Amino acid sequence: MNKEIILITGASGQLGTVLTEQLQEKFGLDNVIATDLRSREQYSGRFEILDVTDMDALTAIVLKNNVTQIYHLAAILSANGEKFPLRTWDINMQTFFNVVEVSRLYKVDKVFFPSSIAVFGDNIQRENTPQTTNLTPSTVYGMSKVAGENWANYYFDRYGLDIRSVRYPGVIGYQSLPGGGTTDYAVDIFHKAVAGENYESFLNAGTTLPMIYMEDAIRATIELMDAPKEAITIRTSYNLAGMSFNPAELALEIKKTYPAFEISYATDFRQAIADSWPMSMDDSDARKDWNWKPKYDITSLTEDMIKNLKPAIQEIEMV
Ligand code: SER
Repeated sequence: MNKEIILITGASGQLGTVLTEQLQEKFGLDNVIATDLRSREQYSGRFEILDVTDMDALTAIVLKNNVTQIYHLAAILSANGEKFPLRTWDINMQTFFNVVEVSRLYKVDKVFFPSSIAVFGDNIQRENTPQTTNLTPSTVYGMSKVAGENWANYYFDRYGLDIRSVRYPGVIGYQSLPGGGTTDYAVDIFHKAVAGENYESFLNAGTTLPMIYMEDAIRATIELMDAPKEAITIRTSYNLAGMSFNPAELALEIKKTYPAFEISYATDFRQAIADSWPMSMDDSDARKDWNWKPKYDITSLTEDMIKNLKPAIQEIEMV
């Protein structure tokens, strides 16, 4: 059996931090190369600074290490992307093209490309949004994901590149902080609640969005990448669902542990982005093709977030 060597881009980000650890466990510490523009404190295992817009630097790492799989997580997210639309397009697409080209040229076996609920926009069925529907995103980030999905499909059809993708809902985890997304409130709110503070939400009370707990998001990624090639019938990107809730519902769950916790609302430009996204997604293709099934709902997510964030806060207070 060939030895797998894994390269992760965006490894210091919200998902990358946790995915790196999981892949290290699966493939061995020495066989996983985490890369990012910035380093993470206390990184165990192999780490290299890499700007994925730099094709020469990416190629050098792939060739030097005989990389067999790339998880391409580096991207500018929905809310941050709106501050610099053209730059976001350039960065998200250039990094994508570099990854698929290096994979095609040097025969990388498998590539993972994260897509997002941000691919959806106008003229969709907002509840139980189907896999195949109108894709007119409201953000540059979403546009870059739609383009990436189509290019992924093209690289598979034309060059046989085994590139796989899911459309992640908002990802919630205690291990890391999101950076510049529209679903970030659902992580921030826990940090406030556990610190004994109230939370001012930038989305209004009734903004229902698809969400997923980090553990489920990572497991979905690994299960998709482990699935037999023949099982993958969708080469753009799979709808992936965990649960759906709005800020008011999440606050109620948090109040079960912190009765004094209060949420207030002051919406900003992110409200319009959220309003253009699905409320829930039909992920029956993922369930059928690679047996996807989420484990966490809003109650178990809330309990686990609080359980894991509490000791961290107590430690900070003691110092
Ligand atoms: N969570 C992401 C964002 O809010 C969606 O992919 O931008």
